[in-house]
Amino acid sequence: MCGIIGYIGKENPKNILIEGLKNLEYRGYDSAGIALKNENDIQIIKSVGKISNLEEKISSEKIIEANIGIAHTRWATHGEANEINAHPHQVGRVTLVHNGIIENADDLRKKLVKEGTTFKSQTDTEVACALINHYYKDDITTAITQALTEIKGSYAFGIVVENNPNLYAVRKDSQLIIGINDKELFIASDISAIINYTNKYILLEENEIATLTKEKYIITKDGKEIKKEIEETKMNAEAKDKCGYEHYMLKEIMEEPRVLEETLKPYLNNSELLPDLSTYEEIHIVACGSAMYAGMIGKTLLEEKANLKCYIECASEYRYKKIIYDRKTLVILISQSGETADTIAAMKKAKENNIDTLAIVNVKTSTIAREADKQLFIEAGPEIAVATTKAYILQVAVLALLSYKAAFSKKLIQEFDIEKELKALPKQLNSILEQQETYKALAKKIYNENNIFFIGRKIDYSICLEGSLKLKEVSYIHSEAYQAGELKHGTISLINDMTPVIAVVTDEEVKEKTISNIEEVKSRGAFMIVISTEEYKNCHENIVVPKINDFFQPILVVPVLQLLAYEVAKLRDCDIDKPKNLAKSVTVE
Ligand code: F6R
Repeated sequence: MCGIIGYIGKENPKNILIEGLKNLEYRGYDSAGIALKNENDIQIIKSVGKISNLEEKISSEKIIEANIGIAHTRWATHGEANEINAHPHQVGRVTLVHNGIIENADDLRKKLVKEGTTFKSQTDTEVACALINHYYKDDITTAITQALTEIKGSYAFGIVVENNPNLYAVRKDSQLIIGINDKELFIASDISAIINYTNKYILLEENEIATLTKEKYIITKDGKEIKKEIEETKMNAEAKDKCGYEHYMLKEIMEEPRVLEETLKPYLNNSELLPDLSTYEEIHIVACGSAMYAGMIGKTLLEEKANLKCYIECASEYRYKKIIYDRKTLVILISQSGETADTIAAMKKAKENNIDTLAIVNVKTSTIAREADKQLFIEAGPEIAVATTKAYILQVAVLALLSYKAAFSKKLIQEFDIEKELKALPKQLNSILEQQETYKALAKKIYNENNIFFIGRKIDYSICLEGSLKLKEVSYIHSEAYQAGELKHGTISLINDMTPVIAVVTDEEVKEKTISNIEEVKSRGAFMIVISTEEYKNCHENIVVPKINDFFQPILVVPVLQLLAYEVAKLRDCDIDKPKNLAKSVTVE
């Protein structure tokens, strides 16, 4: 969702910016643009669609000599995806790119129009640009500070100014970093944009203004200079390589055994490292999309295995809902990116109510990682495909560990004894992934369908939700997940001759019940695919996964559904790594 890269140094930044935009493509976008600048001139080029369209346009124009540049990928919020609405925007002497949403853009626009400003685009970004320009007399940082006092909402701005040799940046509720090497300086939405040039960066905090000159950077807040720590990431340029795989999604699924091993390692023999959830009376798990579905697995385990009262809600509802915090509560935020706007807002709500927060997060530099009271990091490394796979598996693994520890603390499990099982897990997962040919063959049987249903009960239902989401987002096939017993209360009317229904049957307690539901849909003509821990003959297709400890069982089932979704999407020739309309990191409401 929107990406920013900016450069100041000795080079003409054109190619660096284009490369950076390509590295940010995974965030999702529908238009892109670039501004190149020297002492006197600013050249802006924008285009709709892929970065390759922008490249083509740039190659057809005469490019100015430049040593400063800002560039942007836009995921439309205010105004459709067209060239006028694409960034950079320019008003008077100010040119800028923006991530986030200016919530009071309409009011500010009206005020500026009254004072004589005319607008070309429908965007909130042009309003911010006009406001800074409005206040700009002779000192740009004063103008930015004044404008920020009026702007409500989230923003990361990269700003260049006519007849001014510097590059400026400022942020609030939207990530922005300053990249540093010996020769040049960068701004970027995340380190992956500039990883080919540096792994050193500074995290810009709320409303700190960064002034980048050719030689140095100065960070100020309220007019006072601030010293900042330089951080270093372990990420390297290879981490962003497809390593011979056709798609990032496949590469990331295949990485699951390795990242699982890395994530579990510290806890194998050291349960002390895990927070003890049993000290809380109530747990709230809050997240979005797949992260929420991982959370649903956590909820089931915490309730069923650790007798802990657990409530789950998607962050976009939780943030606005009336929540009665009348017991000792922990809010668990789950987020791969750590930048999901709704999840951040849910975290803030918990903190404002003095409720403890625990983040299960992948990106260590993210807002959620930095602002939650406690963190449990998953070691997924960069996840580039828009559809999450390896991060989801690790979220489930960490929630299973937390539930196991809580059950142990409550003496529902006598010994903390899962070292052997956890050590075996990556190999077992690998054996599931090795059966790609089986999933390919199955995909061939269903890829032309318009509707595919998933059914399961309890934890198997949560697995189905993720399987169904994965399928619809990458293959564009309509799919729904149902609690197996609920289907006959309406949706069963949609089952026609050979409609694919995928049933997940791993939970021993409700196995027989789910099997009855399988029979119900089969007798109405469904093409029945059963994924189970025991062989089940009475269906069209059966994939059997090894039966393991209940806590970790979903980790052997969901990858089957991930690979099935991948193979179906491939047969349908979909843009697997960048499905339409989606963004990797949803930084707006
Ligand atoms: C689906 C998917 C999304 C994310 C959701 C939360 O494949 O990736 O549903 O899980 O947008 O994102 P994070 O985990 O970054 O908060």
